[in-house]
Amino acid sequence: PNLFTEARVAPQLASHVIGDIRDADAVRLAMVAAQPEIVLHLAAQPLVRLSYDEPVATYATNVMGTLHVLEAARACGSVLALVNVTTDKCYDNKEWAWGYREIEPLGGHDPYSSSKACSEILTSAYRASYHGAGAPWIGSGRAGNVIGGGDWALDRILPDTFRALDAGKTLVIRHPGAIRPWQHVLEPLAGYLALAERLTTDGAPFASAWNFGPSDDDAQPVGWILDTVRGLCPSLRWEVEDRPAVHEAHFLKLDSSKARGTLGWQPRWTLATALTKTVEWHQAWTAGADMQAFSQQQIADYENGARNG
Ligand SMILES: NC(=O)c1ccc[n+]([C@@H]2O[C@H](COP(=O)([O-])OP(=O)(O)OC[C@H]3O[C@@H](n4cnc5c(N)ncnc54)[C@H](O)[C@@H]3O)[C@@H](O)[C@H]2O)c1
Repeated sequence: PNLFTEARVAPQLASHVIGDIRDADAVRLAMVAAQPEIVLHLAAQPLVRLSYDEPVATYATNVMGTLHVLEAARACGSVLALVNVTTDKCYDNKEWAWGYREIEPLGGHDPYSSSKACSEILTSAYRASYHGAGAPWIGSGRAGNVIGGGDWALDRILPDTFRALDAGKTLVIRHPGAIRPWQHVLEPLAGYLALAERLTTDGAPFASAWNFGPSDDDAQPVGWILDTVRGLCPSLRWEVEDRPAVHEAHFLKLDSSKARGTLGWQPRWTLATALTKTVEWHQAWTAGADMQAFSQQQIADYENGARNG
């Protein structure tokens, strides 16, 4: 399943084209036909573990695919603002206690993380090279570990949890102590939209990289997430995998002071609320609810919510 189908997104769009961003001509033709003013680039191979098995495909999509999107946006003449979505994993992770700021060095131990650092470098070169030549203002967004309804990806803690719960199986996890900056998907999406808006209206001062991470309290270990979900779904059972896992970062936190201070963006839902919303979405889906209406209601709740709401 996927959210696009389950929430019946297509009928709500003016038009849509499904294509492969590794195909430069296809991206350019679709962009020229649509003549967009704003481009939000989220397409990616987004999984760390898969990137170890498929590094070439990961770099092809995340690096060359991004280049094709940047180039198409430059070629089509209508684009005012472009937001490239990368990740918190684009930083050179020193496993230290402080949150990473946008000025910190890029890096990436695994192919996924490194491909996203490459995507940041491309973004920065396009910004510097084509500034003022009719090209769009370009920003990039770096979010933390995103959770939310409608995610069925492999090797992600909540989709894996729901699969285990629905099948009545014990969930096997790799790193119960790994601390991640968890946040509900609506948080960074609100950030990307706020950034696109300011790039469109104000341009240059906003054409840079932006962290959209959760509050410090919401950087929690995987084990804490599972204990909280078990409070909502008492039948959840989990155990720790005994075979060695591939390297994954154990500690990473974002400093989002820039987005808070300059864009006026801030997280609205605590991690506990984000987990409740994610579990509720999954329970509604398994009960056969109208997921378009349900998703729209969650978006409305988010928009109306105050911090901790
Ligand atoms: N999920 C997270 O925790 C997280 C955190 C930070 C950043 N991100 C970034 O957010 C973006 C969205 O990720 P997501 O987690 O929603 O994953 P997702 O898999 O739900 O979305 C990625 C989308 O990209 C599409 N895609 C993949 N390869 C493509 C290709 N070659 N051509 C065209 N489309 C292609 C997929 O079909 C999918 O719709 C990605 O850029 C990801 O790196 C995700």
